[in-house]
Formats: sequence, structure tokens, C-alpha cells
Amino acid sequence: MKLILLGPPGAGKGTQCKRIVDRYGMTHLSSGDILRGERAAGSDLGHRAQAYMDSGALVPDDLIIEMMIGAMKKAGGGYVLDGFPRTVVQGEALDAALSRAGERIDGIVNLVIDDGIIVQRMTGRRSCPKCGAVYHIENLKPKVDNICDTDGEPLVQRKDDQPEVVANRLKTYHEQTAPVLGYYERTGQKIMTIDAAQAPEEVTAAVFAELDALSDQVG
Ligand code: AP5
Repeated sequence: MKLILLGPPGAGKGTQCKRIVDRYGMTHLSSGDILRGERAAGSDLGHRAQAYMDSGALVPDDLIIEMMIGAMKKAGGGYVLDGFPRTVVQGEALDAALSRAGERIDGIVNLVIDDGIIVQRMTGRRSCPKCGAVYHIENLKPKVDNICDTDGEPLVQRKDDQPEVVANRLKTYHEQTAPVLGYYERTGQKIMTIDAAQAPEEVTAAVFAELDALSDQVG
């Protein structure tokens, strides 16, 4: 299956994507994770993206489109796109690239949640700098405080999870990313809407129910 996971920052896209790829054997293509990897590697792309990411603004479309189309080609097979597309221009570029390759997106999982819950989720998020595992200081605690369950690394807080940056990311989402859903409604894509305010396991169960039915249809 080829999927897109849509939703505001902090809705739980990364958390659910990890569970989706484990169950359905797909590749997780997160634009945010790829950008953070480029920054850690000190690449030219990482340097160019840095100021946008730290302020909660979007990285320019041309940089993102080239990066993500390249990642999709490299992945081959099934994948779930997380954080891309984030503007209508990116959605149109994605459709054009898929159409050139004779491929299509099978479905879109749309995580819906209120801004008030999002702020609590993002400011409490902690991640492992080594394996990328995501925790929360209250909702999804590691077994030992502030230590990754998988590799024992101390957890870190993302720079863009500071309250003032979170506010800007939400503003950016409502102005530039929310219209992507309307774009896919107009182009007749299959959209699966999920209440992302539920507990993580309940969100996962709702997502899996939709994707089990979809995978029966697409084979
Ligand atoms: P990116 O890394 O994509 O960030 P995002 O979309 O803002 O999403 P997040 O990673 O913040 O949240 P998430 O939905 O994955 O939530 P998570 O599962 O971690 O992008 C970062 C930046 O890169 C952007 O601001 C931009 O500058 C740039 N960028 C990226 N893509 C771009 C693009 N296409 N175009 C231009 N620029 C781009 O969960 C959040 C927290 O909540 C965690 O602590 C988790 O443990 C907890 N949690 C998860 N689910 C639940 C639940 N059900 N109940 C309770 N807690 C939960």
C-alpha cells in the first residue's frame, strides 16, 4: 500500500506511522525525520532548512519536493508519507510524480484533533536522538525516566517543541497545510478520518481497522 498520513503537528503521525510500518511492512518516509537527519549530518540541505524549522515555518516547497520524491523512489514498494505533502503545491507535485511513474496513493489517513491537546502533546514530547523513538512525559512514558527503552540513550526535547515555536507551527498548519485535505477531497482520494484525541492504542485500533479493509481492496 502507498499511504499519506495527514494531521496537524503533534497529532501522533510519527507514533502511528511506526505501528503502521510494523504491521503492514511498509517504509516510513517522514519529511521531518529526513530533515533532522540532514541537519545532524551537516549537509547543505540541512543548513538551508535549519532556520525555517527552528521558527516553525515551512521549508521551501522546491527543496522538500526534490527530497521526498527522491526518498520515495529509493524506498520502492509500499510506504507511508508522514509530513508530506504539507502544501497544495507539494500535493500537486506528488501527484505529477506518481502519475509519471504510473503509480497512485491508495488512501489518506487524516488524524483530527483540537489545538489545545496538541500543545500539551508537543511540549511534553521527548525523543531518542539515536533511534528516533518518541515518548511523552505523561502520556507515553519510558520505563526509566528520560531514558530510551530500546537503547538506553538519554531522551532529548526537540527545539521546535518550545511553546512559542509550537504556536507558530500551529498557525503555519492552519494557513498552509489544512488546505491539503480540501485538495484531496476535490481530487476524489479515499480519505479515512480518525479521532486522534483518543489514547494511542485506541487511535491505532481505528487506523488498523481502516487499513485492514483498504488492504483487502487494493491487494
Ligand atoms: P515534522 O517533524 O513533520 O513535525 P510535525 O508535522 O509538526 O509533526 P510532529 O513530529 O511534531 O508530530 P507528530 O504528529 O508526528 O506527533 P508524535 O507522534 O511525535 O516537521 C518539523 C518541521 O520540518 C516543520 O515545522 C517544517 O519546518 C519542516 N517540514 C517537515 N515537512 C515539511 C514539508 N513537507 N514541507 C515544508 N517543511 C516541512 O506525537 C506527539 C507527542 O504526543 C509525543 O510525545 C507522543 O508520545 C504523544 N502522543 C502521540 N499520540 C498520542 C495519543 N494518542 N495520546 C496521547 N499522547 C500521544
